[in-house]
Amino acid sequence: MASLIPKEFIDDLLARSSIEQIIDSAIHLKRSGKNLTACCPFHDEKTPSFTVSAEKQFYYCFGCGAHGNVISFLVNFYKISFVDAVQRLASTLGLTVPQENQQDSAQRQQSAPLYGVMEQAQAFFHTQLSHPTTNSAALNYLVKRGLTADIIRQFGVGYAPPGWNNLVDHFQSTHVPAKLAEQAGLITHKDDQHHYDRFRDRIMFPIRDQRGRVIAFGGRVVQPDAKPKYLNSPETPIFKKNQTLYGLFEAQQNTSSLQRLLIVEGYLDVIALTQAGIPYSVATLGTSISHTHVELLFRHVNQIIFCFDGDEAGSKAAFRALEASLPIMQDGRQVQFLWLPEGEDPDSLVRKEGTAAFQQRIERAANMADYLFEHLCESIPLNTLEGKAKLAQRAKPLIAQIPKGVFQQLIWQQLANITQLDIAQLQNAMTNISHNSNTSTESYPRTSQQPTKKHSFRSPLLSSHKTTLNLVDSMIRMLLQEPKLAHQVTHVTELHAIQLPNISLLLELIELIHQNPELSTAYLLGHWHNTQQGEQIARLAAQEFILQGTDQTIAFGDALHRLKEIQVQQQLEAELQSTQPDPIKVKQLLTQQISMQTQT
Ligand code: UTP
Ligand code: MN
Repeated sequence: MASLIPKEFIDDLLARSSIEQIIDSAIHLKRSGKNLTACCPFHDEKTPSFTVSAEKQFYYCFGCGAHGNVISFLVNFYKISFVDAVQRLASTLGLTVPQENQQDSAQRQQSAPLYGVMEQAQAFFHTQLSHPTTNSAALNYLVKRGLTADIIRQFGVGYAPPGWNNLVDHFQSTHVPAKLAEQAGLITHKDDQHHYDRFRDRIMFPIRDQRGRVIAFGGRVVQPDAKPKYLNSPETPIFKKNQTLYGLFEAQQNTSSLQRLLIVEGYLDVIALTQAGIPYSVATLGTSISHTHVELLFRHVNQIIFCFDGDEAGSKAAFRALEASLPIMQDGRQVQFLWLPEGEDPDSLVRKEGTAAFQQRIERAANMADYLFEHLCESIPLNTLEGKAKLAQRAKPLIAQIPKGVFQQLIWQQLANITQLDIAQLQNAMTNISHNSNTSTESYPRTSQQPTKKHSFRSPLLSSHKTTLNLVDSMIRMLLQEPKLAHQVTHVTELHAIQLPNISLLLELIELIHQNPELSTAYLLGHWHNTQQGEQIARLAAQEFILQGTDQTIAFGDALHRLKEIQVQQQLEAELQSTQPDPIKVKQLLTQQISMQTQT
């Protein structure tokens, strides 16, 4: 995972590597002025619109908008993971990727004893389940729910007896320090002296990591009216909820080679499906499906099938799962959606209708593309032109998240089929829509009654260029070319009050550079890569290919001055529009405004 490689190392890699050499060895580049060009490897074209800037260490395609730094090129071109790309780049430079920093290593040492404690707890709970003196309600309950002794043993199901200190006493007798058991999330305390068991009178499902080590428990009540129905371990140094999937280890154990994974909601769904001969399901732990989950799933299989209730909550969860999956839909990966009849879960359904019928449901699961369009077309009249335009507009930000490739092209094709529009036209229209909406100078300031022409940026240094850029976008573009310009901005906080499109992105950029004065353009592009702002940033950065040679220092200073004028103007307007304008403040602002105007 990306977070395991220190950011400094990645920055160092970017600084040392030569994007032009790496890309040139993949696709032959031709020199064109300051830059290098080629036909874009990410879309079909006959004339080269793919441009590489050696100076700024990034690439941009004017045809399809593909962009990024050398790492994103490797990821997209060779269809490899981020970590693999870093590794590949490092090895061409003769560097070794540091696997973890000192903090990680310290954490690992701290975590080691926790695994032992969890293992002991699991053995204790498991024994309790078949203990002759234990209340037999728990075992009876599991048997009543149809679990066999074999499956109980396989999943290591256990039982935490009623009472406040069964586990506390057990740990005392085996000399496990209370502090450690507490760190493991198994016991809690009232005060320094009095510890008690977290799990009481609950059926215990051990949650294992991919190496089979117990890292947490989910505990289900036995008494039907006890609350909460499920109590999970808290997050601990060895248990991170949104990086864990229940049943993944067991699925690997139970299949010779894991081809696909079915994602269900509950522990008992996983267990029941496995018992029914469908040994490839996993469950999230009471959280919605995250990007991290999907990445984890795709590390094991290329086909994942999300299983949801047919109700409203299920439909919301499905869309979240779709959104979490889109950005990592590299070619060859498949995501499907399986809807269950209302009121059923996989456990109840597979018992009711049997394995074969459930398997048929799996085979008939909806493809991502079909689900995506079904969802997007909801309540849109597709027989009208407006409806089609609306669909196209809804689809665009989602399609934009899919990595470039056959799958994305297929979705474009499907959009073209539904709207009966030409695919190239559609893609063009879409770029225009996003371009216009990003650079529009009409929509601000929000506080002003009449749109004032004054707010467009009129630096003499930039006005000779045909490209129309608004003030904020110009500043972002200049900063991407020359991050050091940010040091001209001395009072960032004051600027936060300004209302202009993209202002928060600009300020975020300035603050980032203030904190890390040595950041390069390539790094800045990487910082926002794969986010919505990343698209805008790349589009603006790409304009360095069009606008060159301006005196950035003066232009940026001009722009900053203009920005401060707008800030004062907006403050003044707000004051004048308030129910009781403060005359002193108004006078102050007016004076400030006049003095600023005389400075230009
Ligand atoms: P469900 O309430 O759908 O239960 O919760 P279930 O899995 O069908 O369980 P049974 O069949 O009634 O025994 C689904 C999942 O949501 C989480 C658990 O992970 C559970 O498996 N959950 C549910 C909680 O974390 N806390 C709760 O109180 C309830
Ligand atoms: Mn259930």
